Amino acid sequence: MSVEPRAKLDLVRPVIADIQPYVPAENPELLAERLGLPVEKLVKLDANENVYGPSPRVQAALGQYARYHIYPDPEQVATRQAVANYLGLPPECVLLGAGSDEWIHLLTIVYLDPGDEVIDFSPSFAMYPIYSGLMNARMVWVPRDADFQIDVEAGLRAVTNRTKMIFVATPNNPTGTPTSREIILRLLETGRIVVVDEAYAEFASQTMVRDILQHDNLIVLRTFSKWAGLAGLRAGVVAAQESVLANLWKIKSPFNLNSAAGLAVRESLADVEYLHDCVRKVVAERPRMAAALAELDFLKVYPSEGNFLYVEVTRGDAATITRQLAERGVAVRHFGGPPRIVQGLRITVGKPEHTDALVAALRAVAPA
Ligand SMILES: Cc1ncc(COP(=O)(O)O)c(C=O)c1O
Repeated sequence: MSVEPRAKLDLVRPVIADIQPYVPAENPELLAERLGLPVEKLVKLDANENVYGPSPRVQAALGQYARYHIYPDPEQVATRQAVANYLGLPPECVLLGAGSDEWIHLLTIVYLDPGDEVIDFSPSFAMYPIYSGLMNARMVWVPRDADFQIDVEAGLRAVTNRTKMIFVATPNNPTGTPTSREIILRLLETGRIVVVDEAYAEFASQTMVRDILQHDNLIVLRTFSKWAGLAGLRAGVVAAQESVLANLWKIKSPFNLNSAAGLAVRESLADVEYLHDCVRKVVAERPRMAAALAELDFLKVYPSEGNFLYVEVTRGDAATITRQLAERGVAVRHFGGPPRIVQGLRITVGKPEHTDALVAALRAVAPA
């Protein structure tokens, strides 16, 4: 048998070649440099980060920690205990990793064989199809209604013998829409794995996290990126019954929660009141920002329970407005697709002065 020379072979799996890469928010350092601004002067409302930053206890503890040369605890004992106390769960039901993104990835590895189906209520978070696609699973898109609510009957009709997983981000990214407990309970009745992604739960009015104790097919994801201001350290939580987590234990890399992230999580949880106070400020700013944006006659504002608002550009072009705002030092998030959201903008709720700068910049670029 003749062997093809390597140059003639495409060694990359076709599924990788076909994947649409995640397009991240613009690099703030590069944007600031281009505008000739110090980076802290940017009004950075494009990645749903916490404008109040982490707890001061985190900064202090990271500076004093003297054991960075030692591998972190692969069993995350102290951190899991602290997170379990915070969530009101036994420690066997929580596991931490490098952001909730890591858990989305590892869950697709645990559950998806080629051809298995994944239900996604679109538009929603871009990482679900990326990781599911890597496993050669088939995405089944169930469109949200005009208000971006989940159409649960359509979701149930979409379930087949090949359906393995159902993703529900609540509040949803990018639209901010919460999904009711009743809807999630109905999805759980299918017996399929229901991943409830609660990245923004601290800004919202409900959580399903303790329902994992009753439902062995419910998996809840939480993160320290948003409410605790630790996006740069990468700390996400998966909460589920011990039998579910057993499979994730098998495949997670041993040191997936690094020492700095673990320490930052514990210090954050020792300072919950401070952080919840920052959350309360964001939640208080949300309706003020919504009202200010609603006054602009080229924007339609949607209700949100996240630390961000989704607005639709009803006159002009969302991509152009995003570029024009960036030139004025205001970064907001625009998405290239799916088509339903190409005229949408997702804007993080910041401090009152951020709202004022945003509104002033929007007035300056208002389309004719
Ligand atoms: C719905 C949703 N899930 C997960 C994530 C990922 O968060 P993390 O920083 O924990 O990886 C995000 C981040 O924007 C998100 O919006």
